[in-house]
Amino acid sequence: MFAADVQNVPQEAFTGYLPTKDRVDDLVAQAHQRYAGHTDGTVADYIPILAEANPNWFGLALVGINGSTHLAGDVDVHFSIQSISKAFVFALVCESIGHEAVHERIGVNNTGLAFNSVIAVELNNGSPMNSMVNAGAIATTAMMPGDTAEEQWGAVRSGLSRFAGRQLEIDDGVYLSEMRTNKRNRSIAGLLDSYGRLEKDPLETVDVYTRQCALSVTARDLAVMGATLADGGVNPVTGERVVSADVARDTLSLLASCGMYEKSGEWLFEIGLPAKSGVTGGIISISPGKGALATFSPPLDSAGNSVRGQRACAFLSRALGLNLFASSAHVSHQDGSLTHS
Ligand code: DON
Repeated sequence: MFAADVQNVPQEAFTGYLPTKDRVDDLVAQAHQRYAGHTDGTVADYIPILAEANPNWFGLALVGINGSTHLAGDVDVHFSIQSISKAFVFALVCESIGHEAVHERIGVNNTGLAFNSVIAVELNNGSPMNSMVNAGAIATTAMMPGDTAEEQWGAVRSGLSRFAGRQLEIDDGVYLSEMRTNKRNRSIAGLLDSYGRLEKDPLETVDVYTRQCALSVTARDLAVMGATLADGGVNPVTGERVVSADVARDTLSLLASCGMYEKSGEWLFEIGLPAKSGVTGGIISISPGKGALATFSPPLDSAGNSVRGQRACAFLSRALGLNLFASSAHVSHQDGSLTHS
């Protein structure tokens, strides 16, 4: 593994700051106004209860690494976290078993296929591929600390609650609706098990995974959870260290390549941030060392990513200077100092 060679080299932080509080407030409000009237996309209905979501809901929440909070629209509407949970369960597993083990036992490459693809497992000789697609997420949940499914569920819930800075509750209606219909996830778990790639009982693991996806959050919660990854693993609101800085870094690099499924390349090209989306319409985008933006709007595109959310992220990534790849030419002064043009 490459990491072994460089593990004694100090990890220098990417630096940079958010604009002033008033400027961020103003731009978040502008983003909301700009896209509130857009109606493209379709609300997910493959989990029957999700079809009840209001397509007009639209919330934006940005939390800086100093805990500063900037809000617009429906930031306190509760919705189930769904696939966004995968990012945080990955971080908890990485914290528990380490970088090398996650790399070897799950993988970190994009499948190029839909999030719930069965073919991706077959094409890759039983590899779950990465923790952001359903196969990899189910395999990752099976690696959570705990001897029983109940203990693993307790570890998932308390870990995600520490990221959010409050005790998260399960939405029982969503959990039961998905458990009645999740034949595909059960098939994926059975297939992984047939390849010897699942560390626990397949049906019990799907049950824990489905509960994890049914945890109820708001856009405001998601922004705090994302900001914890932006802040080297420390929750900027509670001050609690949830995971190590190395794990926060590893989680963000995985989100950059796999967080937006088969659209991850396009997303990085357009928006330039590690991000994770969920089928209820949430997206978290993280700017390391600066903060995290959470968007919530249920209508989705064909890959399962919120349409208004993607537009608002594209706008704010540019306007707030969040894009990791954007730099401006420097000017060298006679005294040796540098400024940017
Ligand atoms: O396993 C599933 O299909 C859902 N619990 C989560 C899927 C999801 O959020 C995909 N996101 N775009």
